Amino acid sequence: MMIMDAKRSGWEAGSARNIPLSKEYHYQAYVMETLKRRALPWRRVSEGEVEHIHQVLLQHFAATAENDAQFVQERCQIDKTWPTVKKYMRECPGLTRFMLEVGAHSRFFYPFLLDIPRGTAMLPAFFYGRDIFGKIVPIPSSDPMYQFCLNDPVFKSVRFRNEYEQKYLMSAIMAAILAGGLLPQLWYGGYDLDPGYQKITVYDPDVGLQEPLSQIFGDDLSKHGITYHFSGFGEAFADESQWGKYDFVSAMGLASYHMKDLDSLLRGKIRMLAPGGILIFDLQLMVLALIFDKFVLHWETDSPMKPVKSVAKAVDYVSSICRDLGVTLEEYVIEPEDKAGVVFRISK
Ligand SMILES: C[S@@+](CC[C@H](N)C(=O)[O-])C[C@H]1O[C@@H](n2cnc3c(N)ncnc32)[C@H](O)[C@@H]1O
Repeated sequence: MMIMDAKRSGWEAGSARNIPLSKEYHYQAYVMETLKRRALPWRRVSEGEVEHIHQVLLQHFAATAENDAQFVQERCQIDKTWPTVKKYMRECPGLTRFMLEVGAHSRFFYPFLLDIPRGTAMLPAFFYGRDIFGKIVPIPSSDPMYQFCLNDPVFKSVRFRNEYEQKYLMSAIMAAILAGGLLPQLWYGGYDLDPGYQKITVYDPDVGLQEPLSQIFGDDLSKHGITYHFSGFGEAFADESQWGKYDFVSAMGLASYHMKDLDSLLRGKIRMLAPGGILIFDLQLMVLALIFDKFVLHWETDSPMKPVKSVAKAVDYVSSICRDLGVTLEEYVIEPEDKAGVVFRISK
């Protein structure tokens, strides 16, 4: 798989060079900034403040561009997209401070902001980002975004669920992946599919994923045994040809947006499973980093995320749905370091 084989100069969480983020100063301070400034009309984000951040961002791109021609193109792209980020900063004033202190000193944070809340915004969890033109590249460890990728509890929970999924996906023959996004479970850490043996069917309604997917897998996904439907799980559930077909179904980063109808979501996924098949999904647990995502990074979705406040309640709820559906909750595993996510494994 093409670009994901690129060599990356980075380090791991356990490295002496890893300086963890401070909860108080990295997360809480910016959340408080949003809350305080929203409450006080005279502290609204001013035109001058926004323009200053624009300048700082341009200075960083200018200082790190390889030549003038590159910077001229980058500047044009930044100016085109600036109104969106300006609106985000007005609505989430904590973002202005975060931009000034961190985000504007990165080549990857600004494009990441533009990707939120889409599936492409998950890339940094795997140390890849989109540059200002949308090209997927490894995030260098010299960019401040790298430490954020390494230490952010939500990104850590994304890597955790991905690693968990890979263990089971590897031995699946017919797999269905709902909310596939950029399919990190198929490439992160060097995992490679055997298209002669495994067939992967994916559902995700975001057609904007097509182009970045072709950067990762090439133009023909079928060469990798992947059939990608750019439609939502509703279509998969309604299509009788998909029922009872899969020995493995996964849906990562989806259920927390559908807590109200979790039972029907699980019923649909289980319907896709063949007898003896495995279903894996996750729920996001309430942590400060999620509040930061909402109040600083402007992470808003049409169907809002509802993180669970207690694992015990989530497990009770999932267990009772499983009982009603006649399936077995085999295991649930909590991301051990920050406890930002829990993964469930169910068998039919
Ligand atoms: C948080 S991302 C998770 C992506 C990927 N599973 C991962 O773990 O990196 C959520 C994904 O759900 C997709 N999505 C949103 N609504 C959906 C639906 N109704 N059916 C399937 N996927 C959906 C989004 O387009 C997005 O790619």
